[in-house]
Amino acid sequence: MNKDVKEIIVTENDIDERCRELASEIEAYYSEKAEEPLVIGLLKGSVPFMAELIKRFSIPMEIDFMSVSSYSGTASTGDVKIDKDSDISCRGRSILIVEDIIDTGRTLKQVVQLFYDRGAKDVKIVALLDKKEGRVVEIEADYVGFDIPNAFVVGFGLDYNQKYRNLPYIGILKEEVYS
Ligand code: IMP
Repeated sequence: MNKDVKEIIVTENDIDERCRELASEIEAYYSEKAEEPLVIGLLKGSVPFMAELIKRFSIPMEIDFMSVSSYSGTASTGDVKIDKDSDISCRGRSILIVEDIIDTGRTLKQVVQLFYDRGAKDVKIVALLDKKEGRVVEIEADYVGFDIPNAFVVGFGLDYNQKYRNLPYIGILKEEVYS
């Protein structure tokens, strides 16, 4: 275990199994609608999760990435800025947003609205982690990997000041690392 991690709360094995389950639920939804989704990963945190999910889908789809930022440390600022936009038109399309974690919900609330404003016909969210206690705006993911307590976590895409994204598990960061 990484020396800065206090406790592992989701193991590599848990992630692998849950991604298989999520992929099959999501695939069933789009198969039934006969829709080819545009899967949009929010950079950079969603990358390992997105890779794990999409390799399990057998339906046709397109993928793209967007980069939005709302965090500079361990607390939400409430400002969401688009740093890199998607290159594929979403007009009339079914969009699946892939996110690492929902905390306050501000990021996703604004991103979902942006896609509807741009003419998307259906916008769904899949989030690997959900910190429900952190919510300050009303929004829920359609598919959630794991509900977790209100602690600052790193690994499997999640960072603290750009570090720890490469850890293959989700762990709670030791407080001394950021205090
Ligand atoms: P929200 O707008 O507060 O829901 O923030 C979502 C974003 O905050 C995520 O995409 C992460 O980048 C970041 N974030 C929230 N909680 C954590 C955490 O525990 N560890 C690392 N990043 C986090």
